[in-house]
Amino acid sequence: MKKITALIGTQSKQATYAAVREFEKNLRQYEEIDFEYLFLGDYRLEFCRSCLNCIAKGEELCPLKDDRDTLLAKIEESDGIVFATPNYAFHVSALMKNFLDRFAYFYHRPRFFDKTCTAIVCQGIFGGNKIRRYLESMGRNFGFRSTRGGCMTTLRPMTEPQKKRMAREMAKAAGRFHEGLTQPVPPPPLFRLMMFRIARTNIKRLDDSFVDYRYFKEMGWFESDYYHATTLGPFKKAAGNLFDFLGRTVARVG
Ligand SMILES: Cc1cc2nc3c(=O)[nH]c(=O)nc-3n(C[C@H](O)[C@H](O)[C@H](O)COP(=O)(O)O)c2cc1C
Repeated sequence: MKKITALIGTQSKQATYAAVREFEKNLRQYEEIDFEYLFLGDYRLEFCRSCLNCIAKGEELCPLKDDRDTLLAKIEESDGIVFATPNYAFHVSALMKNFLDRFAYFYHRPRFFDKTCTAIVCQGIFGGNKIRRYLESMGRNFGFRSTRGGCMTTLRPMTEPQKKRMAREMAKAAGRFHEGLTQPVPPPPLFRLMMFRIARTNIKRLDDSFVDYRYFKEMGWFESDYYHATTLGPFKKAAGNLFDFLGRTVARVG
């Protein structure tokens, strides 16, 4: 049975919570799932102090001793993650942002290639779709396969038309998420391929004393086409070679 964890960036149990419940209900129509509601506010997560240890030396050297690794274990045991947040001042809530900050080292050393994520955003007026796209993109940076989630306008108390719109939006988002959970992962888009190849070329110039170098070596990424196993068509293969060449040229000039 697939395990899904919703990481919820509010303690309010109002619209965002209702949207996740609707999402869960729709997802259950596809198959039996184990669905966990994880409220980020129930965990002790301190603010990043900007020492950069996690990024430059290794996440185990973070000086903050809190629930970060408990949250990591929750992600690792899941097949799918739902990032859910209200729109606060045109961004994710502080709880969600702090969570993303504390896991910034994933952007250097992504993982979760076998997992799917999506994003749910509730807002009073506007700006939420940009936040939804931001969360979906952060998920991709973590390594997830990211499917389009949903953004809903949910003034309190929610009107009947708003509730109906939420039901429709969550039904569509659950369908896309389920596809992500069950269908083979497609080859990367050109932009992501380019970012991988250029990052890899830069990291290849380092040595074993760098954590990113050790991670790339361990993952076999110095030889692979992309982060995860994939088949590149002739066009993307050629583009990949070009990105390698460009990366080497930029590295030489830089
Ligand atoms: C601190 C705060 C900031 C907010 N900022 C925005 C905003 O910038 N744009 C917006 O459309 N709604 C904003 N809202 C409204 C919330 O996004 C909206 O009420 C949402 O439904 C709250 O989620 P909840 O019902 O799950 O608590 C804000 C609400 C709060 C409490």
